[in-house]
Amino acid sequence: MNRVIYASRGGNTEKLAGAIARGAGARAVPADQFQLSDTADILFVGASIYAGAIDGRLRDFLKDLQPSQVGSVAVFGTAAGPKSALPEIKSILEPKGIPVLEEAFQCRGSFLVANRGRPNDEDLKRAEAFARKLCGGQS
Ligand SMILES: Cc1cc2nc3c(=O)[nH]c(=O)nc-3n(C[C@H](O)[C@H](O)[C@H](O)COP(=O)(O)O)c2cc1C
Repeated sequence: MNRVIYASRGGNTEKLAGAIARGAGARAVPADQFQLSDTADILFVGASIYAGAIDGRLRDFLKDLQPSQVGSVAVFGTAAGPKSALPEIKSILEPKGIPVLEEAFQCRGSFLVANRGRPNDEDLKRAEAFARKLCGGQS
């Protein structure tokens, strides 16, 4: 089973999580609702960038995540600029032996007057296709 979790302060990454969930045939849930007993083949992790880093609660969640809970992690997210959460998430999970896929989905998210309307319909379509492809096109 594949699962989709995310942290989103303003709703942009939450929108993307909905599209990723459609592609993965899963439900999108906030990271703090993921239970210690939950497991996933692919865990899709949605993260935005705030002052150059991921949300602190998401970082705490990832620090608690155990290798026995996940096969691999796929990262998706939004930011005002080009920065992706992938390097930070890799730096937390890989030392614990949790594989993080190099293939990630990143798009611009609205911030103040920048990137109005993003993620837009096209972003959501691409996000859904990304998840479907990683899940083997079976969902
Ligand atoms: C307090 C704050 C700090 C931010 N810092 C950055 C940043 O350092 N780099 C960046 O590219 N975007 C930055 N952004 C923009 C967010 O990453 C962007 O709006 C993202 O889509 C927010 O996702 P969310 O709506 O899921 O919270 C910042 C936004 C906020 C609110």
